[in-house]
Amino acid sequence: MSEISIIGCGLMGAALVRTLAKGGTTLTIWNRTRQKAEAIVQSGVTGVTVADSVGVALEASPWTIFNIANCADCLTLLEHEQSRLRGKIIIELTTGTPNEARRLGAHITTAGGRYLDGAIIGYPNLVGTPQLQILCSGDPTAFATCRAMLERLGGILFLGENPGAASAFDLSCIIPVAPLVVGLLQAVKICRNEGVPLDQYEAFIKKTIPLMVTDILDKARQEDFATNPDKIESSVSVMVAISRLIANYSRDADLDPGMFDALTRLFEAGVASGRGEHDWVCAADLHTDHRLASSSGHSENS
Ligand SMILES: NC(=O)c1ccc[n+]([C@@H]2O[C@H](COP(=O)([O-])OP(=O)(O)OC[C@H]3O[C@@H](n4cnc5c(N)ncnc54)[C@H](OP(=O)(O)O)[C@@H]3O)[C@@H](O)[C@H]2O)c1
Repeated sequence: MSEISIIGCGLMGAALVRTLAKGGTTLTIWNRTRQKAEAIVQSGVTGVTVADSVGVALEASPWTIFNIANCADCLTLLEHEQSRLRGKIIIELTTGTPNEARRLGAHITTAGGRYLDGAIIGYPNLVGTPQLQILCSGDPTAFATCRAMLERLGGILFLGENPGAASAFDLSCIIPVAPLVVGLLQAVKICRNEGVPLDQYEAFIKKTIPLMVTDILDKARQEDFATNPDKIESSVSVMVAISRLIANYSRDADLDPGMFDALTRLFEAGVASGRGEHDWVCAADLHTDHRLASSSGHSENS
């Protein structure tokens, strides 16, 4: 028997195993490609046993952490282990969606287990430091039971009983960051092309992005920010022109214009639906009318 089992010994799973083992926890681990799990033991990590199957790992410990590539595969693995879930706590640290968390939670509780959904924010090298954030939601008694162990992995934020809350929070962090990464790397190329000093650009953008975040979230809390003439600061129509300009500039500068082509279509759809004079920060609402956005065609042809 061991204290915790871990399913998945990829980059993140291996960091979880190493950190818990370093603190003296006994572990049973399983990885689809067995050599990766064995490599951890062979590297001198003590207190770790490699299991022959997911079922053996589940039986070996009262709590099992899942950390594999996606939640659909977690469900597939667990569907074969229905009888081994009674009385167990399953902690899902694989990135997934709120619906996937609910499906996993329903499966585990129906089988007599308890479910804690989690999401990790941070790279594997941060595991074991407060810079790594673990978001949790689901069974509060399972959280109370596992809390001290999770705190050894990073900072913890419990978001309540809705099992979908942790992944909703996680995706809400990833969604704005992914286009930011693309945009920043494109901006670096643009600065280099034109000899703009990167230090000056960095100092400036580090100040403006936090201000934008505050401004946008402040607007999102006000029902009339997009339509109240006293509050409108920049319109959807203006954003059609700006995003089209950037898409065309990207083509000329040999950068991928895809992100701005998509934004141009979105803002054009907003104009077509009569929202051209609304504040452009209503862009998130424009997303909800998929039919309109997809029927407006490609902006570069318009
Ligand atoms: N790396 C990060 O910086 C980071 C940060 C936050 C969150 N996460 C999340 O952590 C999770 C794991 O990421 P990672 O970086 O460790 O990825 P990774 O290094 O690519 O490892 C993926 C793991 O999933 C396993 N796997 C894939 N398909 C499987 C299947 N069908 N059945 C069983 N096991 C399967 C792999 O097994 P094999 O070894 O056999 O391929 C491997 O153990 C993901 O949900 C990721 O989003 C990662």
